[in-house]
Amino acid sequence: MIDILLLEDERIQRKNLASFLNGLGHIVKDVDSLAKAKEMIDKKNFDVVISDMKLNDGTGKDLLDYINKKGIKTFFILVTAYSSVEDSVYILKNNGYDYLQKPVNLEDLQLKIINIEKLLSVQEDNRILREDNENLDFVYKSEVMKNIVENVKQIANSNASVLIMGESGTGKEHIAKMLHHYSERNDRLFVAVNCSSLNENLLESELFGYEKGAFTGAFERRKGRFEIADKGTIFLDEIGDISLNTQVKLLRVLQEKEFERVGGNEKIKVNLRVVSATNQDLLKLIEEKKFREDLYFRLNVITVKIPPLRERKEDIEKLSQFYLEKYSKENNKRFNGFSKKAMEKLLKYDYPGNVRELQNIIQRAVILSKNDNIIESDGIIIEKKDGKDYSGSFDEIVSQFEKDLILNALTKNNYSIKQTATFLKITERVLRYKIKKYNLNF
Ligand SMILES: Nc1ncnc2c1ncn2[C@@H]1O[C@H](COP(=O)(O)OP(=O)(O)OP(=O)(O)O)[C@@H](O)[C@H]1O
Ligand SMILES: [Mg+2]
Repeated sequence: MIDILLLEDERIQRKNLASFLNGLGHIVKDVDSLAKAKEMIDKKNFDVVISDMKLNDGTGKDLLDYINKKGIKTFFILVTAYSSVEDSVYILKNNGYDYLQKPVNLEDLQLKIINIEKLLSVQEDNRILREDNENLDFVYKSEVMKNIVENVKQIANSNASVLIMGESGTGKEHIAKMLHHYSERNDRLFVAVNCSSLNENLLESELFGYEKGAFTGAFERRKGRFEIADKGTIFLDEIGDISLNTQVKLLRVLQEKEFERVGGNEKIKVNLRVVSATNQDLLKLIEEKKFREDLYFRLNVITVKIPPLRERKEDIEKLSQFYLEKYSKENNKRFNGFSKKAMEKLLKYDYPGNVRELQNIIQRAVILSKNDNIIESDGIIIEKKDGKDYSGSFDEIVSQFEKDLILNALTKNNYSIKQTATFLKITERVLRYKIKKYNLNF
């Protein structure tokens, strides 16, 4: 649902269009003169402005000029009575979004609105991202991370493809966003695609988009991620997981900077910065013939290798302090530090899940510890991922295992007793009893 301002001085046309857009679920304000449209624009933000070209008191171009002068961000669509190349060019050159010819084809209009809705939702994600980046909360102290951040700033403005390698949870996505943030493309979109979460067909229609009727269920044309990311950055996450078929198509996009939508033959040109990431050994995949070597070289013009946290232990203290403050604030607690023993424990551990695991450990410590100033060593609870580290008698091992099971379930369910109990298929009463038994004081 979006807000639309409709300017059309011909009454029947105006009412028709307004009721059509209303029927699509949008909020429409319709006005019949340039003066009234300006007045509305001063009062309210509209996602879309649709304006007729010829008006009693001016033209649609005047309205666009007014919007630009005021620095208002909106998707402007001009409706022209006859095909005027000059007017259309004017619109596109002056920040306008698109134009439509009269009589307005309602299906065309609907498609344009759908595309705008998609753009708006990605813009929303990006706005959040930008806010995120404003306090660029990337925390590090080690030399190796300092070098990486320096490097990222340096390469941000080149268009060369970047491959980010690192174990799970080391901050690959974080770095990809940073690359975008420091680049001149940062007023455009950062569009992330997780290549491992979709099967071959879905991934291709997600990346390339599709034409109406391309397959069952393709009721209308849809833009793909490549098109949406035009002039911005596309982030291909888990690149090691894409099929050989899709690899061929991806290679073509990288080489020729153009592609076709699924089921279409129109060539679409894009200007993209490609950043990809993997936690797999791509060279090994190449040897196993699961990954194309030519694609690897295309993606990997510049490599950023993020070392695992256990190889840069200098970062642990600063990261722990950062997350302690973050989660204390979120949970209305007033922790401001760690006991010496607690910090020793944090420093000793080797973090197979890297920064994400440290983050979880601190969050858990904040939530489960008594509301004091200091996190004590028994507040630092590290889950054992397999049976190897368990020790003691049978009963002790079973207890340790049960405690880990409960902790893991609590973490997965945001520390909600209700959700965790459902997840474990036990009653809330039993869960409470066990939480008490294992001294998880909350
Ligand atoms: N240096 C850092 N400072 C602050 N937060 C960090 C840092 N490194 C990673 N994180 C945080 O750790 C979490 C995991 O990072 P991210 O998702 O970027 O990792 P990833 O390498 O993409 O992991 P995966 O391979 O599992 O997708 C995120 O919440 C991220 O914000
Ligand atoms: Mg990731």
